[in-house]
Amino acid sequence: MPNPALSIVEDAPRAARVVADLLENVIRSRPDAVLALPTGRTPLRLYDELAERNRVGRIDFHRVRTFNLDEWVGANRDSAGSYARFMDEHFFSRVNLQPRNCQIPDGSRSDLGAECARYERLIREAGGIDLAILGIGRNGHIGFNEPGTPFDSRTHVVEVTAETRLANRWSFPDGRVPTRAMTVGIGTILDARQIVLLATGGAKANVLRCLLEDPIDPSFPASALRLHPCVHLVADSLAAARLAQPAADSGRSPR
Ligand code: PGA
Repeated sequence: MPNPALSIVEDAPRAARVVADLLENVIRSRPDAVLALPTGRTPLRLYDELAERNRVGRIDFHRVRTFNLDEWVGANRDSAGSYARFMDEHFFSRVNLQPRNCQIPDGSRSDLGAECARYERLIREAGGIDLAILGIGRNGHIGFNEPGTPFDSRTHVVEVTAETRLANRWSFPDGRVPTRAMTVGIGTILDARQIVLLATGGAKANVLRCLLEDPIDPSFPASALRLHPCVHLVADSLAAARLAQPAADSGRSPR
């Protein structure tokens, strides 16, 4: 990875605080910053931390603009398991973001191709993404860009792998996980001026090792991040357990 910044911290709450610090700095230097935001279990603590910083007046989201990375096809704000609902519940309703500044692909549209093009255009019209915050799937996906996705891809519809559907079953009370999703592309992500990848827990240890050591190839989507000049990987000690020299060369944070 060119100039990788790597923060390995003791546990998941500390990792959330490191990412919140990075985000706070971006918003301080640009109050109308454009963020790309993830869903999943990993960012839950981050959203708690950001809500608390907003509550005490430390981060002002009033002018911030957000674009979520992905959404399930067929989902709308009211569907159980939709990412729109997830974001309302875990973040948007808890901070002073303006609803009109919060974008999520609309998975309920009949013309999904047009929706993908519209989403990509909205990002462009916002001036591009200042900071993309990512999680990582166990198969190396970022957003819903599953293995094999071209690195120059833009917002598109994907068939979600069985493994990823299984990993997301927790958010669908009836256990019926959609088979398709919309996601910003890897090219869309690589256009962000700054990228932070947050990984916590032992289930991510193997994929982080692959991220730093495996060849850069579309069969492992997150490897595209190694082509970006400004990526910061924030991991807790469990996720970092298989990295070759976590302490020696990492710029390890003492937090
Ligand atoms: P998780 O999902 O945070 O629930 O592990 C991450 C991802 O699939 O990007």
